[in-house]
Amino acid sequence: MKNRKDDHIKYALEHESDYNSFDDVELIHSSIPKYNLDEIDLSTHFASHDFEFPFFINAITGGSENAKKINQKLAKVANECNLLFVTGSYSAALKNSDDDSFNIVKKENPDLQLATNIGIDKNYTAGIAAIKALNPLFLQVHVNLMQELIMPEGSRNFNEWENNLKEFVQNIEIPIILKEVGFGMTENTIKQGIKLGIKTFDISGRGGTSFAFIENMRRENSLDYLNNWGQTTVSCLLNLKDYTDKVEIIASGGVRNPLDMIKCLVLGAKAVGLSRTILELVVKYDVESIIKIVENWKTECKMIMCALNAKNIKELQNTKYVLYGKTLEFSMQKF
Ligand code: FNR
Repeated sequence: MKNRKDDHIKYALEHESDYNSFDDVELIHSSIPKYNLDEIDLSTHFASHDFEFPFFINAITGGSENAKKINQKLAKVANECNLLFVTGSYSAALKNSDDDSFNIVKKENPDLQLATNIGIDKNYTAGIAAIKALNPLFLQVHVNLMQELIMPEGSRNFNEWENNLKEFVQNIEIPIILKEVGFGMTENTIKQGIKLGIKTFDISGRGGTSFAFIENMRRENSLDYLNNWGQTTVSCLLNLKDYTDKVEIIASGGVRNPLDMIKCLVLGAKAVGLSRTILELVVKYDVESIIKIVENWKTECKMIMCALNAKNIKELQNTKYVLYGKTLEFSMQKF
């Protein structure tokens, strides 16, 4: 039988977005720096935890043999590089008691900074089961409406979602992050989330993985005109500028390199998640080579911060920038 999780990995790697909003942002450099490279501090704090680095491996997979191998590699890289690792949705393990594609990462890396993920369509008891199994630092609850709608076997009933989220907040004792899957979140969703008690949002915008594309590849009659549904990561961050001191905003969606990461932090994100970029590395290279690349990313983040005269993540928010193209047009409109 074909596994849905394997389809996701396959089609995620096939799709390259032809437009990435990070290319519309230009950071204004500073010619006379104040800080030496080794004075620059990359640490951050969100979801009640301190993290040494402001980027992490965001939810990708679990629930098949291939997914297990990918999780093992990702977890090893995260463990060696002291990065946070978030598993894909734990619901795959709840459907199959023999599944060890999630639990293995903890077994093999007992000190790993680990978080996990579940869908908003699930009851909070699924979240409790995931927490019991993995003892994560926090739980991501993902919203993926357009994916469900396009997915041939997707859900057709959504009026329970709001109540499910309310119950997650009431019954889960670790921090909860409300997370998109690449369609983006803007003010309307953040306001709803705040009302329901959410304090941390991963706005995961358009520009990288498109779950509309992925599910269209799995359908007989493709609705490919919806492949670019949603708002880009930079548009979401710009739209949420007034919220960055009210809630914690995490950025993901289309992050390709340390420059994109720094742009997210300049625009107010507390941290930056990567899925497709790191998945690509995992299928191409061995663990040792990926560790080298990730270690270089840390230095490259510091290099860029040095050239922006920012000693830490907070100072990065003083960076001036200009916008171009569609992102500029988006930023000029009220909705
Ligand atoms: C994902 N993503 C995801 N998100 C989530 O909340 N739960 C999940 O189980 C998954 N599964 C998943 C599988 C694969 C193969 C990919 C590539 C992605 C979405 C992911 O966390 C992220 O929000 C989007 O992929 C956008 O980021 P990138 O891929 O553009 O960096």
